Amino acid sequence: MGFVKYEQEGFVGIVTIDRPKALNALNEEVLKDLEAAFDAIDLDTTRAVVVTGAGKSFVAGADIGAMSTMTAEEGEAFGKFGNDIFRKIETFPLPVIAAINGFALGGGNELAMSCDIRICSDKAVFGQPEVGLGITPGFGGTQRLGRIIGIGMAKELVYAGYNIKADKALEVGLVNAVYSPEELMPAAMKLAGKIAKQAPIAVRNCKKAMNDGLQVDMDQAIVVEEKLFGDCFNSEDQKAGMKAFLEKGKAEFQNK
Ligand code: CAA
Repeated sequence: MGFVKYEQEGFVGIVTIDRPKALNALNEEVLKDLEAAFDAIDLDTTRAVVVTGAGKSFVAGADIGAMSTMTAEEGEAFGKFGNDIFRKIETFPLPVIAAINGFALGGGNELAMSCDIRICSDKAVFGQPEVGLGITPGFGGTQRLGRIIGIGMAKELVYAGYNIKADKALEVGLVNAVYSPEELMPAAMKLAGKIAKQAPIAVRNCKKAMNDGLQVDMDQAIVVEEKLFGDCFNSEDQKAGMKAFLEKGKAEFQNK
């Protein structure tokens, strides 16, 4: 995992894309390392994950040098390669927070969008500049941006290819909050810590219900919720959480 570092602080895993010389641009190796980092996360001892970038960039996009000589078939395969990994992150059982410390362009914004929650530093810059390179966004940008910020603004950003700063990203709902660079990781860890204190099986079921429900119509979506709501009653943590409430105490959840 040469281009991706993994650390664990308590129940929180921290994944850092670490190719600062190329502003953490995503080539096949970086993408493989990213996938390996997620594959190695222990679901018994981890309850939330934070993704960030080393240096001044979150991720400045897919590697333009690597893409410059691709054929149509290779381009499609590269798109699938990145999409499969980002979809794995999107459907990862634990909540994933993107702590966006700098450039989140092209594949970088797409990586951030495959995370559940986005917060950023006031130095962050967002955009889908692909049309300026003669391509479409290729790691989910044409699909996730509209779902997150609404299709009208998403089309403007994708067609015109201009970048936006943190304050605009907050205004359009691309990020939930903006912090100074020094405050960003502490804020991400605080939020991850708050999530980690909740009943882990319930949190995981919430993620699955919210993600899966978006794929289907409302009648099916509420059935998705009913099943996952019901599933929580199989857990010891549901019993502990409700018992603690009734006894006016606080439960220490066991992830069981
Ligand atoms: N791919 C490959 N290398 C990249 C890169 C990328 N996406 N982004 C930056 N780099 C490299 C630069 O080539 C440069 O390398 P050298 O030092 O070897 O020349 C190094 O990172 C530093 O970059 P800059 O000197 O350009 O730094 P800057 O601070 O002047 O500018 C920037 C920063 C505005 C982010 C600029 O680097 C930039 O515009 N990068 C490209 C952004 C982009 O277009 N991203 C979309 C890529 S396409 C994509 O992602 C497709 C998809 O959806 C899958």
